[in-house]
Amino acid sequence: MSLLLVASLPVMVIATVRYGTKLLGFCRNLLTQAMNLTQGTVSVNKTHAFVFSNCTHGQADSVLETFHLYNNTYPSLCIGQVKGDFLDEVVSRVAPRVVLELGMHCGYSSVRILRLLGPAGRLLTVEKDPETADKGEEIILVAGFKHLQFQVLACVSAEAIAGLRTHLSDGQGLDLVLMDHSVEQYLPDLLALERSGALLPGCVLLVNHILGPEGRPFLEHVQAQPQRYTQRRQLEGMMELTWNGPSELH
Ligand SMILES: *[C@@H]1O[C@H](CO)[C@@H](O)[C@H](O)[C@H]1NC(C)=O
Ligand SMILES: *[C@@H]1O[C@H](CO)[C@@H](O)[C@H](O)[C@H]1NC(C)=O
Ligand SMILES: *[C@@H]1O[C@H](CO)[C@@H](O)[C@H](O)[C@H]1NC(C)=O
Ligand SMILES: *[C@@H]1O[C@H](CO)[C@@H](O)[C@H](O)[C@H]1NC(C)=O
Repeated sequence: MSLLLVASLPVMVIATVRYGTKLLGFCRNLLTQAMNLTQGTVSVNKTHAFVFSNCTHGQADSVLETFHLYNNTYPSLCIGQVKGDFLDEVVSRVAPRVVLELGMHCGYSSVRILRLLGPAGRLLTVEKDPETADKGEEIILVAGFKHLQFQVLACVSAEAIAGLRTHLSDGQGLDLVLMDHSVEQYLPDLLALERSGALLPGCVLLVNHILGPEGRPFLEHVQAQPQRYTQRRQLEGMMELTWNGPSELH
């Protein structure tokens, strides 16, 4: 009996060490997740408060300058000036009728896009966190844009894409899609967009943070179909692609 106990002692020790570490790791993971979440909201709230109270209301350029000012002191979730210039260049060149933005965050890129749209241009912007969506929408309104020009969809991207048709009039489709949400969602969302038929031939896709390992499935999908997708420029992990239309070969 005691021999059995002695024999099983190493097993028990190993089990304790193993599961103890696992449990510890699990707890630590939960904690960082909670911290990440709070920090995200805090940063959105702080960015919003700073921009809202320090910009000149009704002036989009002042809103953008105030975002930059804030970012000089605190890092924020915005795409920033360099990628912002890239985005500006694409929006000006494509002159889109309808833009879909996945991942609105604080509304920085939404304001950048809206200020360059023509009179008939419209932005559909998607934000899964309802509090962030409210804050972002307020910033867009503060920048002087009207609800005729934009619509905020406070839901996950998959849901927004599934309901896309209700936001487009007959024959209307997407001319520009900006993906700046969860990189793991890029491929499933692209597949859903392909199926939806909402992508117009020549539609430009701008995808952010694409060079990390999470972006690989998306890039593999795109690179496997050179007749459907043309890869254009890449800048600091933001890539421009063109959707050439559904291929007849498939
Ligand atoms: C917390 O955020 C960091 C960086 O933003 C990320 O690398 C990490 O995976 C996140 N951790 C969890 C548990 O979500
Ligand atoms: C952010 O602001 C909203 C209200 O605008 C509030 O409900 C929420 O608690 C705030 N979040 C944090 C983490 O301060
Ligand atoms: C507005 O800007 C000033 C000066 O940069 C800063 O001290 C203040 O905290 C800002 N307001 C808010 C609400 O963040
Ligand atoms: C914020 O600052 C970081 C580094 O300081 C920079 O990479 C980023 O582009 C800036 N974002 C904005 C909105 O200016």
